Amino acid sequence: MSDLYAMRWKAVFDEDDFPERADSGRLSFVEESGNAYLNARQTSDVAVEQQKVIAADAVIFQFPLWWYSMPAVMKGWFDRVWAYGLAYGYKNAGNKYRYGEGAFKGKRAMLSVVVGGPEADYAPRGINGPLDELLFPITHGSLFFLDLTCFPPTPCMAVPHASPSKTCWLAKAAWRLRVERLFEDAPIPFRAQNGGDYPERHILSSQVAVGQTGLLAHIADIESVRQAAHHPFRGWPFS
Ligand SMILES: Cc1cc2nc3c(=O)[nH]c(=O)nc-3n(C[C@H](O)[C@H](O)[C@H](O)COP(=O)(O)O)c2cc1C
Repeated sequence: MSDLYAMRWKAVFDEDDFPERADSGRLSFVEESGNAYLNARQTSDVAVEQQKVIAADAVIFQFPLWWYSMPAVMKGWFDRVWAYGLAYGYKNAGNKYRYGEGAFKGKRAMLSVVVGGPEADYAPRGINGPLDELLFPITHGSLFFLDLTCFPPTPCMAVPHASPSKTCWLAKAAWRLRVERLFEDAPIPFRAQNGGDYPERHILSSQVAVGQTGLLAHIADIESVRQAAHHPFRGWPFS
């Protein structure tokens, strides 16, 4: 477990992350990240977090939704822990291995999100947009990118307006069921970069998701995801 506030996690990715620079002139984060990771020159807090993930079968990210995303301290965890050579630039091969091939193959990941707004705001035509789509940069961009098998997020919604005892009890019950099923439920069926849907690794084949553009085109079976959003044990409030 990593409680980022209790750990007083350093959120800002900066020059202090590279005590032994490859280039003392221009600070290139990508180059210095690779140098630090590949030559065991990272700061110890980052190396410890990487080892925790490497040792894990599943990783759960618990956070409140802040401005449609994760709080800055957690973003700083990703910025610093997801190093070049581990999270991106895997095998020092640029973008050859990503989205379905990477260092974390076989590991599972799920977001446990506490949300202020009511469920209606996040409905398919809700004013905020569907939560699954808002969280796409995390599930697709920061988890599946590294080959973590990612499950639909488990939200706990309308938290500030609900009765604490009832909400907590129901949220815990929903959460317990989700965790129990973490090794059984179907993951989000993101399309793998090297699975044939992206002939040149960048753009979807014209034969795939015909006429679709945008984020959801990168999910192979969008109907199964929409149904999962209404799974009775998906989160609070129950639908
Ligand atoms: C900086 C900040 C940004 C927030 N952004 C959102 C948001 O984008 N959408 C939303 O529904 N709630 C938002 N909220 C409300 C929080 O999600 C809500 O207060 C939280 O889930 C309740 O959990 P807590 O009691 O553990 O803080 C925000 C709250 C803060 C403090």
